Amino acid sequence: NIVRRVQVRGIQSVAQTDRDTITRLLYSIGTKREVERHLRIFSSSSHPSEPAKFAVIKVGGAVLAELDELALSLSFLYRVGLYPVVLHGAGPQMNDIMDREGVVPDYIDGIRVTNAKTLQVARRVFMEENLKLVNALEKLGTRARPITSGVFSADYLDKEKYGLVGKITKVDKRPIEASIRAGALPILTSLAESADGQILNVNADIAAGELAKELEPMKIVFLNDKGGMFHGVTGEKLDVINLDEEYDGLMKEPWVKYGTKLKLREFKELLDHLPRSSSVAVISASSLQKELFTDSGAGTLIRRGYKLFK
Ligand code: ARG
Repeated sequence: NIVRRVQVRGIQSVAQTDRDTITRLLYSIGTKREVERHLRIFSSSSHPSEPAKFAVIKVGGAVLAELDELALSLSFLYRVGLYPVVLHGAGPQMNDIMDREGVVPDYIDGIRVTNAKTLQVARRVFMEENLKLVNALEKLGTRARPITSGVFSADYLDKEKYGLVGKITKVDKRPIEASIRAGALPILTSLAESADGQILNVNADIAAGELAKELEPMKIVFLNDKGGMFHGVTGEKLDVINLDEEYDGLMKEPWVKYGTKLKLREFKELLDHLPRSSSVAVISASSLQKELFTDSGAGTLIRRGYKLFK
């Protein structure tokens, strides 16, 4: 059965009773059939030669603040033998600190203008937030590794305009794969390095996208605290967005503006670069299991067209 299959993939650190308990829990959110099908699909996405094909999970700074909830959700995946690649931001935490130090955050087109002082704060906050998540995971018995450099190479996006902000030019997935092969969840920040060794700030959503293009995972998950994307007029949660059929129409809707427009454009650009079987999910940390392991999900699923799995 699926539990044994997951076990054969070589996760020795998780006790069998643990795994049974978790699988039983999963059955309580969906039917045995659908849960097993999703477990099977997700488990077979990764192999020892390509261990990072299950999911990239982007965690916003606000979600990171709900540390226990987040750590539980990620541990759940780990317990069933799945290794998501986690990348987090730290926007709100940074703004708090800068506020205390009397620096006013400056954004142009949603990009944080970054001078030396801002970068200094960013490096410190990223490191601290990263360590908090890694520690919370380890406390639950989930092995995790901080990966705070060495993955992203970048050029200056526009030095005059944004300062020390990077445009990613290369993603090195080796530290990520090494972490998973060693049985630990890779926990990444979005800082990058330029060719001459300058650290550059990169927007975490953009970094998650570039990471996904390199890894080509089945799922790219954006955790937010609202649990999905919402219709701007009716306020209803959007269940599924099929980009092939709906993108152009959606972009013309008067309620689709600012953040929503930016996100849709990002998702489209991202999925255009990925196999058709890859999809994006926008969901809260607490409903992640339901989104992944049931047919109906719980948040918003964004895919290219109707056919989800090959
Ligand atoms: N569990 C499936 C997946 O992760 C389907 C999710 C459906 N989600 C939704 N919001 N309609 O791909």
